[in-house]
Amino acid sequence: MAKNLFITKSLGDLLQEAKDNKAGLKKTLTSLNLTTLGIGAIIGAGIFVLTGQAAAQYAGPAIVISFLISGTACAFAGLCYAEFASMIPISGSAYTYSYATLGEFLAWIIGWDLILEYLFAASTVSVGWSGYVVSFLKDFGIFIPTTLTAATGSVLVEVPKLGWQELTHNLATGLLAQGVNVDSLPHVTAIINLPAMFIIAALTLLLIVGIRESANFNNVMVIVKVAVIILFIAIGIAFVKVANWHPFIPKNTGEWGHFGWSGILRGAGVIFFAYIGFDAVSTAAQEAKNPQRDMPIGILGSLSVSTVLYILVAIVLTGIVSYTTLNVADPVAVGVDAMGKGMFWLRPIVKIAAIAGLSSVILVMLMGQPRIFYSMSKDGLLPPIFSKVHPKFKTPYVSTILTGSVAVVLAGVLPISILGELVSIGTLLAFSIVCISIVVLRKTRPDIPRPFRTPFVPVIPILGALICFIQMAALPLDTWARLVIWMAIGFVIYFTYSIHHSKQRNSTNASK
Ligand code: ALA
Repeated sequence: MAKNLFITKSLGDLLQEAKDNKAGLKKTLTSLNLTTLGIGAIIGAGIFVLTGQAAAQYAGPAIVISFLISGTACAFAGLCYAEFASMIPISGSAYTYSYATLGEFLAWIIGWDLILEYLFAASTVSVGWSGYVVSFLKDFGIFIPTTLTAATGSVLVEVPKLGWQELTHNLATGLLAQGVNVDSLPHVTAIINLPAMFIIAALTLLLIVGIRESANFNNVMVIVKVAVIILFIAIGIAFVKVANWHPFIPKNTGEWGHFGWSGILRGAGVIFFAYIGFDAVSTAAQEAKNPQRDMPIGILGSLSVSTVLYILVAIVLTGIVSYTTLNVADPVAVGVDAMGKGMFWLRPIVKIAAIAGLSSVILVMLMGQPRIFYSMSKDGLLPPIFSKVHPKFKTPYVSTILTGSVAVVLAGVLPISILGELVSIGTLLAFSIVCISIVVLRKTRPDIPRPFRTPFVPVIPILGALICFIQMAALPLDTWARLVIWMAIGFVIYFTYSIHHSKQRNSTNASK
């Protein structure tokens, strides 16, 4: 029995499945589509929201170094993903890769864990989307009732000049320091986050209609966000005041993680979220025209473009304004304000870019999840309904609807902090397993053709796994506890359902 847990899926079978594609997902995506898909998934809340907060609270202008550290870990994981994706061009991402290498049980763990990355990330980013949309509409005099714009049960206070803010310990302490007692401010308790639910529902419908339509929508969103980011960098350079970069690494306050080198490390942990998404390219492998060549291009291309843009935005933003002013929900808009009245026209454009950017992240995450379910269901680890393809639209519509429905509920009721940390821990775990799998497979199956090879194996995969693990270790204990509970639920499902329905297991037993 214990041995059976490590039953692997043969690569021959996997490649045959890729060739057969009988149920028929449409093969329409080019290398450019895959790269834009990756950029679509990567550039979002990380750069539009978290950069400013991480610079203000942890790293100062040295947030640029945090981006380099986190980017390096992701580049290592990205190289490993690229090798796998070229070798096993099947949708299912890290789940499929571990099924071929580490065995069914670990594959199940990773597949179950990836739900934290994809489904939960869609909900996390939709909460950020809601914030930007509410603020954008407010600029045009359209108000959505505050009670319908935040997680169920969260308390919001109306802060003079800033408007409605979620009541956190930091906010209360900050206000008290300015002589304002929060109790004296108007309060409401939120019922539900309606805009966040709306965007998930709308994009789920789009995904049911078709991968082509979704890819086209994504392309438009990506063009908008990348164009505006480049515009911000190009205009912003002229407004940089070198004094804002001094000191580049602000002195540590005496507390671990608050400026100095420990602050840079904590900043790297926080903005890791900004890089999540390049692996989503691997979930569309079966819909790619030439996956063996194009998957590595899509993964590494989107990661490189995003890394360069992130570093430039971080340099320019911390040069335009003092990092101390960036602890807000829309730091890039603060940067634009600092350019002076003549540049106010850029403000709504930045908000539109953020809304477009966040929409495409949600879209790609909602697209990735059902494709992982699809693979798990094809293998018998999930019920057959999860791999049902729509007869006309050729999309895995049942799992798309299921994913959308759960994500809608999470988006409506949970706060961004709980969601975001779960996404990070889940993704880091997936990245570590992918890195380790590369080393294992080079030893156990050196014979398989690898159109793309990760350089310097085993150094790069081992370093990749190690940096991911260090970042996981830095996450709070309650996030670890949630991960353990989530995994425990996964074990129950595996041992009560999946193990009895596994096709690989059944066919191996039958041939004995
Ligand atoms: N990388 C994605 C973002 O920043 C998840 O929103």
